[in-house]
Amino acid sequence: MKAHTRVYGTGFVTGEVCVPNERFTKVCDTTDEWIRERSGIQQRYFVREGTATSDLAVDASRKALDDAGWKAEELDYIVVATMTPDYYFPGVGSLVQAKLGLPPIPCLDIRQQCSGFVYGLQVCDALIRAGAAKKLLFIGAEIHSGFMPFSKHGWDVLNGDSDESVTPEEREWNSRFRHLTVLFGDAAGALCVGPTDNPDRGVLGFALHSDGKDATSLYVPSAGFAYRPYFSEEHIREGRYVPFMEGRNVFKMAVTKMPEAIHEVLEKTGLTLDDVKLLIPHQANLRISEGVQKQLKLPDERIYNNIHRYGNTTAATIPIGYDECRKSGKVKQGDLVAFAGLGAGFHWGAALMRE
Ligand code: ACO
Repeated sequence: MKAHTRVYGTGFVTGEVCVPNERFTKVCDTTDEWIRERSGIQQRYFVREGTATSDLAVDASRKALDDAGWKAEELDYIVVATMTPDYYFPGVGSLVQAKLGLPPIPCLDIRQQCSGFVYGLQVCDALIRAGAAKKLLFIGAEIHSGFMPFSKHGWDVLNGDSDESVTPEEREWNSRFRHLTVLFGDAAGALCVGPTDNPDRGVLGFALHSDGKDATSLYVPSAGFAYRPYFSEEHIREGRYVPFMEGRNVFKMAVTKMPEAIHEVLEKTGLTLDDVKLLIPHQANLRISEGVQKQLKLPDERIYNNIHRYGNTTAATIPIGYDECRKSGKVKQGDLVAFAGLGAGFHWGAALMRE
């Protein structure tokens, strides 16, 4: 299969406050051991209040532009994958365009959650193949701290600004959501994407799927137009702004569907698993990545994990991992890289790219 689309630069940023697991023990009933054992996470980063997803997206974009040697004003398209936009609407794309001081180029948001990268990369590839874009900025950005149930004081404790315990009532409230809150972090990753004349270098193929029958296994039961009004006092009182997650179902889906999608894209492109130098999976949970690795029988050096440092940053996890691998030399020119993700929707899939 011929490549038409290549990545010319990458960059990422995280929220500014590093929050180790230990701090969570001060706001809810959890332990460092539980979090490490069940998820592999040791720390995550959160933004301070006032920083929005578009801000992280802009900072990551500037790094990717520098890496590519592109000027922001040369960009002719922006695609943003996020499930945590600054506002219910509009999306983040046009906010990034304005903050970068760009002319009114087309901007697009996509909402495929943890599969935002693999879906977004296909959108970028299609836009480039269609001749609609030549210098495209593709961003995966999330600020999950907005859906956390913590009070201002709870945030002070998490941020390390206060040692004063939260009240027993607040601890009880926070503990209702502990299976979910400990997993996520804030970050953005960006890629400069454009056409290539070299058919052997770049994006080679995709295997993408969606099935909405289990959509309510992982969703936000509020802030949507299934409700009238779409957000209410009752929703806040009941904590319905925090995502609902049937963790075990998500786990089962992820370890089944991600390997299937990888096999499918390899078959479509006439390649084999032996050709893959490195798999960079969505970082949902170390146990999920280990499950995928086991199914595919990959040795440790052929799968990349960094969840211990950042937690789950949804659409940003793969761009962050890819940036780290490019810049550390773990991925070199000519290497075949596989990406795979599964997330709310459910949406899942895999992509192949020759570096
Ligand atoms: N600290 C301490 N104990 C906890 C915590 C916590 N943070 N969270 C839950 N527990 C307790 C539960 O209350 C339960 O206690 P009980 O046995 O007394 O009832 C016990 O731990 C086991 O709870 P489960 O929810 O059954 O734990 P499980 O082993 O399934 O692990 C987890 C939970 C880590 C969420 C797991 O289901 C999982 O990894 N699922 C995948 C979901 C995921 O990774 N989502 C990320 C976002 S989606 C995505 O990116 C694809």
